[in-house]
Amino acid sequence: MTIVQTIAPADMRKMKQRGEKVCMLTAYDASFAKIMDDDGVDVILVGDSLGMVAQGHDSTLPVTMEDMIYHTRMVRRGVQHALLVVDLPYHSYVSASEAASNAQNLMDAGAQMVKLEGGSEVLPMIAPMIAKHIPVCGHLGLLPQSVAELGGYKVQGRDDASAEKILNDALALEAAGVSMIVLECIPSALAKKISESIRIPTIGIGAGVDCDGQVLVVYDMLGITRGRRPRFVRDFLAEVEGHVDDKISAAIKNYISAVKQGSFPADAQSYK
Ligand code: KIV
Repeated sequence: MTIVQTIAPADMRKMKQRGEKVCMLTAYDASFAKIMDDDGVDVILVGDSLGMVAQGHDSTLPVTMEDMIYHTRMVRRGVQHALLVVDLPYHSYVSASEAASNAQNLMDAGAQMVKLEGGSEVLPMIAPMIAKHIPVCGHLGLLPQSVAELGGYKVQGRDDASAEKILNDALALEAAGVSMIVLECIPSALAKKISESIRIPTIGIGAGVDCDGQVLVVYDMLGITRGRRPRFVRDFLAEVEGHVDDKISAAIKNYISAVKQGSFPADAQSYK
């Protein structure tokens, strides 16, 4: 009998205590979610990055609660073991009451934890979620939902004042009861200091190896994302065999020529 070990929010802190790194990937549909769940990813994030990689927008800002609920339901069907974390999208937590009701809607769709971006300024939104026993993941450093205010997708926390703010925000989020914190695009030394200063895990993306875990956008780590790739992306698929872009393109070209030549569908793909 296969024993199904499911990962719960409380396991995040235990993994840090054991010195076990947390492995997290994004997923936006059931098929990808099932592959990574079967392969043993600890945490699956339905990130609002779906606005860019799945919907084709140039930022995460157009993503709605409706979109997040739709993708959460799909991903939920593919996940048995991993912890399922879902992003609260832009403008869905502008007040404490909206934050709590939108977080509840994501939980009802299948999330086990919700993620929101920001530090001390979002503490009033976190309190009602924690009061409702909704586990929360923080997100500090580069905040894609605030990209306009930050002046673009840039490394954060390079000067003393902003590094201190990010560290203080991490301490404040921990004190507010969040279960873990994503650290995006900050210097490795700062991420190390934060990771050593709090008891909940830090999950890095462009934050160095000393974070308690790592996250990547799945399309980035499979080399599917076109255009400029951030420095923190590693194309794991290319390291296995060939490049996924080439393989997908070749498959489409073969399909086109098989249809044109009349060799597809063959008997094997037809019904008698
Ligand atoms: O939306 C997302 O995919 C994220 C990750 C990049 C951490 O927030």
